[in-house]
Amino acid sequence: MNNKKPIFSCNSLNKHFGATHAVNNVSFTLNQGDIFGLVGENGAGKSTLIKIIGGECIPDSGNMFYKGSEIKWIKSSEALKNKISIAHQEPLLVFSLSAAENIFLGQEYTKGIFIDEEEMLRKARLLLKKYPIYPELILDKKVDELSLDERMIVEILKALSYEPNILILDEPTASLPKKASEVLLRLLEDLSKEKKITFIYISHKLEEAIEVCNKIMVMRNGEKVGILQKEEIDRNLVIRMMINRDLNQFYPKKSENIENTVLQVENLNTENLKNINIEVKAGEIVGLYGLLGAGMNEIALSIFGINNFKEGVISVSGERLHRVEVSDMINKGVYLIPPDKHRFSLFDSFTISENITITHLYNIFPEFLISKIKENKFAEKQADKFGVKYANISQLINELSGGNQQKIILTRWLFKECNVLILVDPTVGIDIGAKRDIYNLLRNLTENKKAVLLISSEINEIVGISDRIYTMRRGEITAEIKKDEITQENILKNIL
Ligand SMILES: Nc1ncnc2c1ncn2[C@@H]1O[C@H](COP(=O)(O)OP(=O)(O)O)[C@@H](O)[C@H]1O
Ligand SMILES: [Mg+2]
Repeated sequence: MNNKKPIFSCNSLNKHFGATHAVNNVSFTLNQGDIFGLVGENGAGKSTLIKIIGGECIPDSGNMFYKGSEIKWIKSSEALKNKISIAHQEPLLVFSLSAAENIFLGQEYTKGIFIDEEEMLRKARLLLKKYPIYPELILDKKVDELSLDERMIVEILKALSYEPNILILDEPTASLPKKASEVLLRLLEDLSKEKKITFIYISHKLEEAIEVCNKIMVMRNGEKVGILQKEEIDRNLVIRMMINRDLNQFYPKKSENIENTVLQVENLNTENLKNINIEVKAGEIVGLYGLLGAGMNEIALSIFGINNFKEGVISVSGERLHRVEVSDMINKGVYLIPPDKHRFSLFDSFTISENITITHLYNIFPEFLISKIKENKFAEKQADKFGVKYANISQLINELSGGNQQKIILTRWLFKECNVLILVDPTVGIDIGAKRDIYNLLRNLTENKKAVLLISSEINEIVGISDRIYTMRRGEITAEIKKDEITQENILKNIL
């Protein structure tokens, strides 16, 4: 196995985007038949690195060698012609064309001056038969009508249609159903052994990368942290390299100073909730956990005044309320950060700065005309305080990674004094480093005598961060689990 030949190497690659050093002095070698894993937090530089290799991005400096000669791609078609292809994280497909047409876009089958659609469809079917990642894909359907995972399959087939020597897969399984992911992983193994195809495989799913890769390179902040050979690969080690910390420091310490009750719900009844009694004290993070639909979100919406309730009392710092309104709650310093950040909270076409200041413009800048400079200065201070990674405060929010977008939302709410913060799934879909930042942020709040009510669908998160947990089943609270009794078993017992 060790007599593999090098097929590609790079030496001191660098790429900047403005002030961001996206790829910082990266060197490595690929041997023929390698399945080379590339892992790192969002924003670590993985996509930029592979775009350089695929000719889609020109490096500022550094050298690349392929099959014994130096290469300097100036466009991706050169890399493709030389059989290096990329299946992108966000497929670059033409929605108005069929799956088959997309697969062969740029290499269409022509009959005279016309595209031979029959031939193309036939070829696409052959391709799918050869690489049966998702046999049920309907190849003459328009991409517009395909699901997200089907589009990813089209993107992968398209990359395979070039019969690459090096195939780069950027998070291919992020949106794939489990079965398709498994087939894809087996296919990588077969192709690397039988056809000596070399793979660069980017994944957030560490288990998959560990299973399938014979080497893993970890990146952090644009730099190569290290390369692990198959026998050295260990999940905890990889995570430690990614986040530069020990795992037992992943969740912040549990609270030691719990004080008076700031939020209390007594005998709350709604259509779906039965006699809910919970309380949250200053200084603690209380987890609320149950299966999907057990009623956690309804409790949050009732407290925040979005859902009306028939019966019950909600008290904030001792003040008893039989009816609540959103504006009232905000005035009392109770905030709800809802789950789906795109639907509720992000303003995609706005800048980072505007996204930070938007909900509180009137409070911070009462004068009628808002000074951009002032607004930006303020936003910058906030973003830095919460460790948001960005190039420029005036860049559009949707240029940031998911984790950084989520931090912006938290930033927006947290610069005003809050007493109680209610969060629903605040870390879904963000990387491990941004998760850690958010946990620290929550702990920081409770250390400042604030109260946090966390609704999460991730049991690890609930166990790791909560000081106390309420479990739910079908609209009812089934147990209150104190700090020393918090275990996964204890929770599961009470929600199933
Ligand atoms: N086209 C671009 N313009 C400006 N900044 C970019 C661009 N592409 C990537 N970046 C920045 O470069 C860094 C690395 O990004 P990326 O390579 O996408 O990381 P990863 O794929 O590991 O999540 C990030 O800080 C990102 O915001
Ligand atoms: Mg990426």
